Amino acid sequence: MVQKVWGGRFKEETDVLVNKFNASIGFDQRLYAQDIEGSIAHCLMLARQGIITDDEASQISNALRTIKRGLDRGEFRLDDSYEDIHTFVEKTLIEKIGAIGEKLHTGRSRNDQVALDIRLYVRHVIEKILGLIKEVETSFILLADNNFDVVMPGYTHMQRAQPVLLAHHLLAYYEMLKRDEKRYEETLKRVNILPLGSAALAGSTFDLDREMVAKELGFEGISQNSMDAVSDRDFVLDFLFSSSVLMMHLSRISEELVIWSSQEFGFVLISDAFCTGSSIMPQKKNPDLPELIRGKTGRVYGDLISLLTAMKGLPLSYNKDMQEDKEALFDAVDTVEICLLVMARLLGNVSFSSERMRAASEKGFLTATDLADYLVRKGMTFREAHEVVGKIVLFAIENKKELHELTLHEMKSFTIRIDEDVYDWLDTISCINRRNIPGGTGSDMVRKSIARAKEELGI
Ligand code: ARG
Repeated sequence: MVQKVWGGRFKEETDVLVNKFNASIGFDQRLYAQDIEGSIAHCLMLARQGIITDDEASQISNALRTIKRGLDRGEFRLDDSYEDIHTFVEKTLIEKIGAIGEKLHTGRSRNDQVALDIRLYVRHVIEKILGLIKEVETSFILLADNNFDVVMPGYTHMQRAQPVLLAHHLLAYYEMLKRDEKRYEETLKRVNILPLGSAALAGSTFDLDREMVAKELGFEGISQNSMDAVSDRDFVLDFLFSSSVLMMHLSRISEELVIWSSQEFGFVLISDAFCTGSSIMPQKKNPDLPELIRGKTGRVYGDLISLLTAMKGLPLSYNKDMQEDKEALFDAVDTVEICLLVMARLLGNVSFSSERMRAASEKGFLTATDLADYLVRKGMTFREAHEVVGKIVLFAIENKKELHELTLHEMKSFTIRIDEDVYDWLDTISCINRRNIPGGTGSDMVRKSIARAKEELGI
């Protein structure tokens, strides 16, 4: 049994159940690299300030590097009696170099130490996630580029609304992902603040050079209030919120892939390698991957809500409830990373049925707005034009025709302003290309958006 770092004032051994319940080492071992990085920076600063000697600092930091290599190779057994990764590293250090190792924790508490470790960890994962987001963005842009000519119905209320380019639809997701990037980058600014030096809650009696540690660890600044610093997990919440919004975006494209790959739509075919089958129905090919991404979105929301809830009743400053931040954080990290990776690959494994999509965009009066706009150009007010086209649509429905299938005579019975040129006007591609307004689906605009995105992505 490992001796407790706080054992001095205790007469009895800790109950086995308490060790098990209290320990976080089962999951916070994921922070070992950050814990050691922070400890090395702390010990170098202690030496610079004359609190320990240079020789002691180099013994401590060398031993910490050896421990890190051992942990990298999985050489240690991390059992619950160590409580947490911070205790494990310190105990192992002391085992290696004796009493000198006992100086490392001078001016430090696990409270500011764990806050530091999580900040270093979140910074690391945000950088990784930003790279993965770029991969998904690249997949979207390549898909849009390779399917530039594909026309599809744009929907509102899941009802066919107006024809759009598939590329335009896909680029909408590129915009969402760009915002996700920004949200993580904003989060990073709040992550990059050094809490170390806050000690348990009130600051340290030692003359610690906090600015030096901040610089050493690449932080932009130091925390301004020790009580806030040890009890602040806002940056984890920021991360979880950014992750929730990102997952929501991934879930929306997933939902579309599920619907589009149904036989009812038949817009998209997902390659065999990215689908699964049924144990009973031999004909089935199911879109499990987008379904799973959609499903896992709920987990990440859950992670956000669980930490928000854990934090809401906490008095200042540190409370053990805060140990619960890690499993939520790690779960969100794992989920977001795998979902981004799968989405990037999945998008490279879909093919679109341009005929089905084109056919769908030519049925259901998707050019009705354009007909109204046509009448405005012929001198009607928009409201009047809307009314007239509404009546034409009703007539077409009753006569089982599309707008472009009506005769000129039939159309003229609603207004004499309609002429022969209406047929060209109602052509699907013309309707799309008429929207060459910034942000619109006109092909010139979409081509420009793709070019801009390619430049941004360096592809
Ligand atoms: N394992 C703890 C956590 O994750 C580390 C901080 C412990 N601090 C304390 N005062 N017991 O929050």
